[in-house]
Amino acid sequence: KITPIILSGGNGSRLWPQSRALYPKQFLALVNDKTMLQNTLERVGNSDIYSDPVVVSNEEHRFIVAEQSRDTGVVLETIILEPVARNTAPAVAIAALNALEAKGVEEDALLLVLAADHVIENLRTFEKAVDLAKQSALEGKLVTFGIVPDQPETGYGYIKAKEKGGVQPVERFVEKPDKTTAQDYVASGDYYWNSGMFLFSARQYLNELQTLEPAMYQACVNAYQLSVKDRDFIRLDKAAFEECPDNSIDYAVMEKTRNAVVVPMAAGWCDVGSWSALWMLEEKDDANNAIQGDVILNNVQNCYVRSEKKLIAAVGVQDLVITESDDALLIVHKEAVQDVKKVVEQLKKEN
Ligand code: GDD
Ligand code: MG
Repeated sequence: KITPIILSGGNGSRLWPQSRALYPKQFLALVNDKTMLQNTLERVGNSDIYSDPVVVSNEEHRFIVAEQSRDTGVVLETIILEPVARNTAPAVAIAALNALEAKGVEEDALLLVLAADHVIENLRTFEKAVDLAKQSALEGKLVTFGIVPDQPETGYGYIKAKEKGGVQPVERFVEKPDKTTAQDYVASGDYYWNSGMFLFSARQYLNELQTLEPAMYQACVNAYQLSVKDRDFIRLDKAAFEECPDNSIDYAVMEKTRNAVVVPMAAGWCDVGSWSALWMLEEKDDANNAIQGDVILNNVQNCYVRSEKKLIAAVGVQDLVITESDDALLIVHKEAVQDVKKVVEQLKKEN
């Protein structure tokens, strides 16, 4: 069986002000009445395919994770807690070490690494892609899932497959290219988006990491060896994990490995990474506006207006996201939504 590893330690700062450090977006119900984490847990609920999922999150969010999983009826035997965030490459390494320990020395484990902030509309198609990927993962490949891009999004990784169709070796992996490069990639028709989900054997991933990022590998081994088990929680050793270099799996491993393959997937995938991604998911009116809550529009086009408490009125504007929470109001041009995280950085500095 495959062990789902759900990465839930991001801070979701591009979805400020709804998403906050104490309560980031993966714990919010953004697209339906379940939270992003709960939707992800349910996606891997088929016990014919998967064993119990493991969540890796920040220490601060342990009770939210425990409670949200309990509410969906999912048993989380293991919640791995990071005392500090070191991005996704170490988070996956720790999950791999844990999976190997759980299986015993001689065994290997297949890990399906998932982000906690994705929408996947077609579960059957997703499961078929995972099944196809399984063969390659058993052969020691690091499997990525490729999405046919429809716009030059700069917040994603891009994958060039050797040839088109079926499971293909990855010829190139480029994480978050600049706008013109992304435009070239999309125009060429030769690239997929990296969906940010991976399937591989725990041993294979750790071997790659040890070769490509030896200091990171060692820091993870140390932090895991010194970790403390506390009921379902595994708490990594703070001093050891602080020593770990900070990097994502995309930069640290996927860009460099020669051992990756891509499985194309058309399952209605979407990363709810920014306000414009949410706008795209929502139903639009004739003027291409998506609204939520108490909103009045007059001569407004291409906007996403989301009210929680106040009435929001907008007049004569285009291409904006307007959203409010208890204590903050955000107005951002749809082209600039990736920079909302800079507001959060500014706020952090000022406080
Ligand atoms: N445990 C843990 N610790 N999880 C983390 C950490 C961390 O330090 N940092 C991020 N995560 C979680 C996030 O909560 C999210 O669920 C997932 O890891 C991915 O992180 P993002 O920060 O959302 O990554 P991204 O969207 O910028 O880029 C990745 O996903 C894209 C598609 O969604 C990359 O894999 C891209 O190549 C890919 O295109
Ligand atoms: Mg993301």
